[in-house]
Amino acid sequence: MAPLSLLWLFASLNVAFASSQVKHSLSGVPDGWIQTLDVLPPTQGINLRFGLAHGFSTIESLLQDISDPSHPNYGNHLSKEEVHILSAPTDDTLHKVQAWLSAHDANSMTWSPAKDSVSAVLSVSSAEEMLSTRFSLFEHTKTGERIVRALSYSLPDFLLDHIDFVHPTTAFLDPRRHGLREIGVRHTAREAGPSPLNQSDFISCVTIMDPPCVRSVYNIGNYTPDASLPNHLGVAGYLNISARQDSLRLYLDDYIPESVGSNYTFDVVNITGPFEPQTGVDEGNLDTQLAIQVAYPIPMTYYTTNSIPPSLGEDGDPPGINEPYLNFIDYIMGLDDPPTVITTSYGDDVRSFVQISWITLLRSAKASQNWEPGKFLFPGDSGLGVGSAPLCIANTGNNASTFLPNFPASCPYVTTVGESFGPQDGSGGFVPQMAESDSGAGFSNYFDRPSYQDAVVSAYLDGPANANETPEQARMYNHRGRAFPDMVLIGSGAFFDSFFNRWDIGGGTSASVPTAAGIIALLNDWRLRHGKPTMGFLNPFLYGVGSAGFTDITEGTVDGCEQPGFNATAGWDPASGLGYPNFQKLQELALL
Ligand SMILES: *[C@@H]1O[C@H](CO)[C@@H](O)[C@H](O)[C@H]1NC(C)=O
Ligand SMILES: *[C@@H]1O[C@H](CO)[C@@H](O)[C@H](O)[C@H]1NC(C)=O
Ligand SMILES: *[C@@H]1O[C@H](CO)[C@@H](O)[C@H](O)[C@H]1NC(C)=O
Ligand SMILES: *[C@@H]1O[C@H](CO)[C@@H](O)[C@H](O)[C@H]1NC(C)=O
Ligand SMILES: *[C@@H]1O[C@H](CO)[C@@H](O)[C@H](O)[C@H]1NC(C)=O
Ligand SMILES: *[C@@H]1O[C@H](CO)[C@@H](O)[C@H](O)[C@H]1NC(C)=O
Repeated sequence: MAPLSLLWLFASLNVAFASSQVKHSLSGVPDGWIQTLDVLPPTQGINLRFGLAHGFSTIESLLQDISDPSHPNYGNHLSKEEVHILSAPTDDTLHKVQAWLSAHDANSMTWSPAKDSVSAVLSVSSAEEMLSTRFSLFEHTKTGERIVRALSYSLPDFLLDHIDFVHPTTAFLDPRRHGLREIGVRHTAREAGPSPLNQSDFISCVTIMDPPCVRSVYNIGNYTPDASLPNHLGVAGYLNISARQDSLRLYLDDYIPESVGSNYTFDVVNITGPFEPQTGVDEGNLDTQLAIQVAYPIPMTYYTTNSIPPSLGEDGDPPGINEPYLNFIDYIMGLDDPPTVITTSYGDDVRSFVQISWITLLRSAKASQNWEPGKFLFPGDSGLGVGSAPLCIANTGNNASTFLPNFPASCPYVTTVGESFGPQDGSGGFVPQMAESDSGAGFSNYFDRPSYQDAVVSAYLDGPANANETPEQARMYNHRGRAFPDMVLIGSGAFFDSFFNRWDIGGGTSASVPTAAGIIALLNDWRLRHGKPTMGFLNPFLYGVGSAGFTDITEGTVDGCEQPGFNATAGWDPASGLGYPNFQKLQELALL
């Protein structure tokens, strides 16, 4: 390492004289926001995260081998240390960025575990000088929420290749997407009224998808996992949503006979510290209960990452936390022994994620190939776009009409679970399943189609189910993008979950994703029993040898943006992915 003083001088000289180049800019204020005239005090602190350039290609090709069942390295997960070394930026990058930040009096510098990003508190005036920009307060027209952003930013020439992104700058996150109504729980319809639901008013597998029914629909039989194996189910929570031990106990007592009298509880980790719990929201209870319904007694941890609306802190105070996914993933990346599967019932629309998608991509990739593999399951929600046509507009300033793929669901390195629909006509329940019209589906605008799904997605696009695609529909999505979902599970059917001491009915992808995670936990158990490592990043298995372990869904359609949607058909389709899992078939395939 060169003497720091020299680097400082170098950095200062460059700041003073170097020309800079625009890193990212928007052609106008994004749809749904107005720029206020309020002036930001120049001495006020702003917390910026700088993503550093690093060699992603090595990690990416290792990930392909480690997650490909036909490769000799299948399941040879990297250690946390190996992942960190592989994803570390070069010393040159580290030194340049560190010196540049120090020269501008950056405070509270916090490095990610792999040193591939750093957050720092800067004064508004320093940040504006460093990025040759002006920060303003923007107000969201619907919610009144105010955030600090810029319409463009630049980097000095000598840093252009060393920094991938700076956040928050030009990424406008729609606060509605962080709101409870529309994230996962959007579908969690709770029965109103003062009196609790009476379980005996429902008939298993006809009007209610209770645990015995889940076992039969997904062909789980009486498979019982071994709690002493190194297997561990993670449930992610955001937005100050908590999960209750007493509610889980009630659920176990009623539905899992072998748990009665046990002392089973889940662990809780508050990644961002204790928080003000949201009351009246049962997402956390639904997620923990439906994840454990088939996976009991595998150990389970509920991780909360509370979110504080993006904002400036008071002068000198730590500013708000913007991107809870990153806090969560940074935490998981720092664990020696992360969960073997992680379920997340939260997501956003992707308009604003031009840059954030990249950081989360890197983290997801690392975490999912990782050491004892953290594997992420994310929901696909909201059909092809949020709400109706006027909202299906790109926020790049050109008002183009577009489907709005969910994120992180559209990331190639997570497994995306949509919801399917059981007829519920009283004729016998939840099979055959159909595609659910407002389950999330689509094609990423930012991520190319990964090789693991290329054959089946191309077959869909060129096949009979898509034969009548109109030019108007074709313009709404990126035919070469990562396509999702990967699989679907019943969501629209009813599920009981225990909330305090009453019973509620929840559903949607918030039911599908944790149920899928429980099934994956069983497959990991099965492999561990045979002396094999857990599955890690699933998708190459799912689209390869594992595809025979799914029951195809050929009926129904998914739609949105007031457009005719994608049709379910034989084989993979955007309406139902590969179909729904058949555990006992997957069990055989998982050992091949
Ligand atoms: C639920 O319904 C059953 C049968 O109709 C009845 O016996 C029971 O008392 C009810 N329980 C509650 C809590 O209302
Ligand atoms: C729970 O019970 C098991 C055996 O039944 C015992 O080994 C374990 O120590 C108990 N845990 C707690 C926290 O009491
Ligand atoms: C996590 O935060 C919640 C809410 O503030 C609190 O009730 C709980 O005790 C905390 N748990 C841990 C393990 O810190
Ligand atoms: C979450 O809890 C934190 C810490 O108590 C609080 O600052 C924040 O406003 C809460 N957020 C929500 C959405 O309730
Ligand atoms: C986009 O729409 C907004 C509001 O309707 C309008 O003010 C703006 O001029 C449009 N921009 C373009 C590039 O058409
Ligand atoms: C989907 O199926 C419907 C009904 O058969 C048909 O009208 C529509 O054209 C199909 N969509 C595409 C894109 O082919």
